[in-house]
Amino acid sequence: MKNKIYITSPIYYVNDVPHIGHVYTSLACDIIARFHRQNGKEVHFLTGTDEHGKKVEKSAEKIGITTQEFCDNISQKFRDISDFFNISYDDFIRTTENRHKKTVEEFWHKLEENGWIYQDIYEGWYSVRDEAFYQESEIENGIAPSGAEVSWEKQESYFFKLSKFQDILLQLYQKYPKIIAPKSRRNEVVSFLKGGKDYQKGSLKDLSISRHGLNWGIKVPDDQSHSIYVWLDALANYISALGGFSGEKFSQFWQAEDSDIFHIIGKDIIRFHTIYWPAFLLAFNYKYSDLSQTSSELDQVIKFLPNKIFAHGWWTNEGQKISKSLGNIIDPYQEISWIENFGVSKEIAIDYFRFFLIKEVPFGQDGNYSRENLLNCVNSDLANNIGNLLQRTVKFAHKNFQGSINKTANFDIINQEILQEWKNIDKIELYIENLDINQCNFSEIIFDIIQLSSIINKFFDNNAPWEKFKQGKIEKTKEILYITCNFLRIIAILILPFIPNCAKRILDILNIEVSKRNFNHIGNNHFSQSYQLDEAQVIFQKLYQPS
Ligand code: MSP
Repeated sequence: MKNKIYITSPIYYVNDVPHIGHVYTSLACDIIARFHRQNGKEVHFLTGTDEHGKKVEKSAEKIGITTQEFCDNISQKFRDISDFFNISYDDFIRTTENRHKKTVEEFWHKLEENGWIYQDIYEGWYSVRDEAFYQESEIENGIAPSGAEVSWEKQESYFFKLSKFQDILLQLYQKYPKIIAPKSRRNEVVSFLKGGKDYQKGSLKDLSISRHGLNWGIKVPDDQSHSIYVWLDALANYISALGGFSGEKFSQFWQAEDSDIFHIIGKDIIRFHTIYWPAFLLAFNYKYSDLSQTSSELDQVIKFLPNKIFAHGWWTNEGQKISKSLGNIIDPYQEISWIENFGVSKEIAIDYFRFFLIKEVPFGQDGNYSRENLLNCVNSDLANNIGNLLQRTVKFAHKNFQGSINKTANFDIINQEILQEWKNIDKIELYIENLDINQCNFSEIIFDIIQLSSIINKFFDNNAPWEKFKQGKIEKTKEILYITCNFLRIIAILILPFIPNCAKRILDILNIEVSKRNFNHIGNNHFSQSYQLDEAQVIFQKLYQPS
């Protein structure tokens, strides 16, 4: 297992204010980042904003402020929303920063030096909204497959020899199918590379990588009349944030053998990440004349590329596609206020929202946002299940033992029985594997944790400690409480990456040292000997449906 991980979210366009889709992408990255930190890895988590291009310029013009001012405002909104939702990023990059500009220029120079760039005339369909080129076969009634309007463009341009990469990328994704996930997305990319039916006659064309007369962009070095194509500019953020190709972090997180590079993106931007991005990276590392297409070299080639690109699905609003024009954009802040109106504190409301987004939809699939589903999900899994278990255990322990519980003789046997019922302790290892970069089965993991909580609730009911206590069976009563506390501790550690505020509060009530809140401490030999519980408090308040 590698001991470092570089995890990135896409950088968000500043022509839009943050909405549920953006929070979702960042949340998935955050869970992976927290998970790996808790598992003892060195993590570098990057997010940020994508600020160049015609549409940003136009949006600023529309409201009559400078483009830079416009970018500053919206970029700050993305930073604020990340902080609000406890997104634990280590760095926030903006493409208008100097550190980024320097890397993009270096990138361009190297591609030129390596013989990958030439000048020609670009003629074809372009969508300003997507900042993407489309082939004739993809356009229907003036609309791109993404639903964006396109216009016919003819202009002088610099081109990148993308066509040279068709075979090598195809071979790469065939030999290393796990690079792209989920599988359905990988198949889509492979089919594109094969020129399959999805993209008819889709052989890779050379790519226009400059825009003539675009002001708001990074200028082509040595030719100020052109700006660099926004996707070449944007993708390079993953390197500029590491200090560029000669940066210390670049050697630490990109080039090191013990580091995984993991891009999480939405399904709409997969082509840019799985075709353009690897091609740019390889072009940086190989001269045009040297790039061989034989599969024997793939093992070399792969060293320059990300290990994993995971494309998640899209959220709809009560079944409808979310769009500005339909006016049904889900504002995450508004959803938090709505939850707070049930009498829940902000920090708990944030965790409820996080929990719902990640539990509701298997990661990789599309999902439908519905407030009713959020209520049901939170009430049944958090309030009625984990919350109930915590509440009654802690209250009972305080009422009868001043909150003081310790290990009892029969513990090991009972503990083992419970783990058997949960299928067995391997589940914990499975859980860790599941969150590893090859899986990301968030909802399955949550399902398992909730199932463990149900088993412990059942154990508590079946053993009825209140009766044992009445009958004077004090040792037995303590044993039941001790086991329940231990499993509450495990449940809280397992669920920490998903709902950090709530899980922290459980661990505080259980009085678990901060240094012991990691996956190392859930194995059998790490069970606490005793607990001195804090006062009970309702963490998972139920959200009552208005009658
Ligand atoms: N700027 C580019 C990314 C450049 S990365 C080098 C971009 N930005 S974006 O702001 O339009 O989208 C950012 C992310 O938000 C994408 O991963 C996209 O899939 C995600 N979402 C935007 N709307 C969404 C939903 N309705 N549902 C889920 N995620 C969606 O693309």
